[in-house]
Amino acid sequence: MTHPGLSDSPLLKAARGEEPAHTPVWFMRQAGRSLPEYLKVREGIGMLESCMDPGLVHEITMQPVRRYGVDAAIFFSDIVLPLKAVGVDLDIKAGIGPVVASPVRTMADVEAIPDLTPEHVPFITEAVRSLVGELGATPLIGFAGAPFTVASYLVEGGPSKEHAKTKAMMFGAPDVWDALMRKIGGIAAAYLRVQVEAGASAVQLFDSWAGALTPTDYRTSVMPHSARVLADAGTLGVPRIHFGVGTSNLLSLMGEAGADVVGVDWRTPLESAIPLVGDRAVQGNLDPTLVFAPTDVMLDRAREVLEAGRAAKGHIFNLGHGVIPSTDPDQLKRLSDFVHAWQR
Ligand code: CP3
Repeated sequence: MTHPGLSDSPLLKAARGEEPAHTPVWFMRQAGRSLPEYLKVREGIGMLESCMDPGLVHEITMQPVRRYGVDAAIFFSDIVLPLKAVGVDLDIKAGIGPVVASPVRTMADVEAIPDLTPEHVPFITEAVRSLVGELGATPLIGFAGAPFTVASYLVEGGPSKEHAKTKAMMFGAPDVWDALMRKIGGIAAAYLRVQVEAGASAVQLFDSWAGALTPTDYRTSVMPHSARVLADAGTLGVPRIHFGVGTSNLLSLMGEAGADVVGVDWRTPLESAIPLVGDRAVQGNLDPTLVFAPTDVMLDRAREVLEAGRAAKGHIFNLGHGVIPSTDPDQLKRLSDFVHAWQR
């Protein structure tokens, strides 16, 4: 049963371009190593193992909601979890990130990856259902990794700065690239569908590394695949947030790909981003390192972000990328309280 107040929650109203009671705020990576209560429950349990334990996922997802009173929970999982669930041999190594045992290089490698069905992820359905029961009128944001960003981990075999092997496949083996992007896009769409059908009321597509691309390469080789994922999520009737890092040259295209809300990193001022995203809401974009500044400096900059956000069709306050693990949770609490007290 959907909570009667959910549809009027500030996050969903802002995402639809309606006037919310206050500007909604949540933080990418709000659950995680910056929280002592997270470190405590994760003790001795691997990251992927945690993501497959519905009780733990429930607890970790709720921790930042309880602490900060943010306007949304983001489902605790990872962009590579659905690949793990279909049987790709990978791990998330502490302090490193996703590592893939046999990187994907050939058409046969792509064809060996199964499509995702709900039977691969019963623990996701279970965790989402129990979370929306507790969250009530607070939205749960489901998420998936976008095809380019997930492809980078699969092709490189681990985290990469240059994404050189990934782009070499894109430039040099377009048929393999196309098949890989379709495969990952299908998995992402199916993964989002499971989350929304279990009760998630918004979704975010993370294309964190899309900023490595020129607009032409993005438009030709990546955008159609992200657009298919977003179109599929669109049929579920929930708002779609589309986020990447270093994407000042791609913001228009990321909107056109089918987003309701375009996520903006901290490098692009919102006043520059808003005209680029068209008739869409924006999310962002305080520099995540400002939590290490004196509180008054952080809040002054937050005020600037909020004021710039007035010009948007809708504005969801966030950091410009994820919470840095050494962040003091008390600073995020002050930030969240400040956004809630700010008069639009
Ligand atoms: O936002 C949230 O609180 C929800 C949870 C979430 C995680 N990963 C948990 C996580 C989300 C939304 C993600 C998405 C994700 N994962 C992205 C896109 C977002 C972004 O930051 O750009 C990417 C690129 C990944 C891949 C990945 N997984 C990386 C780069 C890392 C960090 C490596 C490290 O240890 O510094 C992970 C691991 C990971 N995912 C952690 C968490 C809480 C750390 C695991 C731990 O506690 O040891």
